[in-house]
Amino acid sequence: MTKEKCESFSFAFPVMHGTMGPSVLDQRRLAQETGMFTFDPGFGSTAACESKITFIDGEKGILLHRGYPIEQLALHTDYTETAYLLLYGELPTKEQYDVFCEDMASQRLLNEQIRNFFNGFRRDAHPMAILCGTVAALSAFYSDVLQTKPCHHDLSARRLIAKVPTIAACAYKYTIGEPFIYPDETLPFSENLLYMLFSRPGRPYKADPVLARALDRILILHADHEQNASTSAVRLVGSTGSNPFACISAGIAALWGPSHGGANEAVLAMFDQIGSRENIPAFLERVKNKESGVRLMGFGHRVYRNFDPRAKLLQATYHEVIDTLGLKRDPCLDLAMELERIAIEDDYFIQRKLYPNVDFYSGLILKALGIPTSMFTAIFAIARTAGWVSHWIEMISNPTMRIARPRQLYTGKIQRDVLPMEER
Ligand code: CMC
Repeated sequence: MTKEKCESFSFAFPVMHGTMGPSVLDQRRLAQETGMFTFDPGFGSTAACESKITFIDGEKGILLHRGYPIEQLALHTDYTETAYLLLYGELPTKEQYDVFCEDMASQRLLNEQIRNFFNGFRRDAHPMAILCGTVAALSAFYSDVLQTKPCHHDLSARRLIAKVPTIAACAYKYTIGEPFIYPDETLPFSENLLYMLFSRPGRPYKADPVLARALDRILILHADHEQNASTSAVRLVGSTGSNPFACISAGIAALWGPSHGGANEAVLAMFDQIGSRENIPAFLERVKNKESGVRLMGFGHRVYRNFDPRAKLLQATYHEVIDTLGLKRDPCLDLAMELERIAIEDDYFIQRKLYPNVDFYSGLILKALGIPTSMFTAIFAIARTAGWVSHWIEMISNPTMRIARPRQLYTGKIQRDVLPMEER
């Protein structure tokens, strides 16, 4: 690959303005009119779509869903209300909320045949592996909606939001060898999730409301985050007209990576690896020396360059949880706070604008709730399903939607001829 400064290039980009945030250069006719493409791997300077769902100002640490600040949603709504808001654009009235809750609760149960899928997995399979495969397999059960007709979008969205928690809970029960717990339609969303994870035949379980509320807050804070990697994966797959279950399975696969949703699990593994406060400086030296594969997990964000508002909310939630559970300060928390204190005062992190992100604290809360580390990313997937389906519907309802098909800068061999094998 060679690089040179382009002095003579001229193209009048139309400028598009949203309701908030930076304006964008419309380059849709660029290739057609100039014969050149833009190069932006990682999409650092490229808006791939228009969206009305979520707004982020990374410099100011602002996150809005349909115009509402995340702080207000976390304090004054529950996950089901937030999911409704993402899907339909407005917060529900009491009547709309009751109907939505009832309908969603009635969709929680899985087709009994789906239980057979689990037996095909090894007992030590990662819950995300089971979730990816089983969510895609839902398309084999709901062939009534595979054509993605507008009247089916809403039904698919509701089915996914309702059934992903049931699949995730079954995946967990399967890996620990306990019987699956059928969802309880009478329970609110987060209480039902705790019930499916922790109840056992012969040992009834009643979730503590403060803990259910803490889980619910984690779900609200993870419900959507505009065009992140997993949502973009859902949009990319959806742009081909693929069915909603396959699209969400693609989102789950993208979320699994440690740079994205897998970070909450990786943060706890990092705390284990550091072990104690005295080892923090040595660990940070390895991070700053960019030793292969060593990053400060739970730090940094492509968009937030000041602070992640979700991390602040979760720090407060963590204290509520340990007070409710009467837990002494967890040694992990001490380590986390010390690590955070040292890192945010360190030039390496200051210069690169790296701050704690949502995953720095979410893992600590999930751990305190008794949720095993291997389930952390699955909890994120449960929450993000509301965002994924909202983006999927927004995209396929747009009459101007085109299949997503990026271009490339080719740096391989120039054209050549195949030689007979004995001459190669
Ligand atoms: N630890 C050490 N250095 C870092 C980190 C980190 N966590 N994050 C970024 N950097 C450095 C990076 O090495 C680069 O340095 P230099 O300029 O010297 O080459 C600079 O900061 C810019 O990094 P980048 O990789 O270009 O940033 P990005 O926007 O592509 O990556 C990120 C964003 C979230 C993938 C990255 O910050 C990261 O890997 N963080 C750790 C994983 C993590 O916590 N992910 C959860 C994200 S929040 C939940 C979600 O939305 O999924």
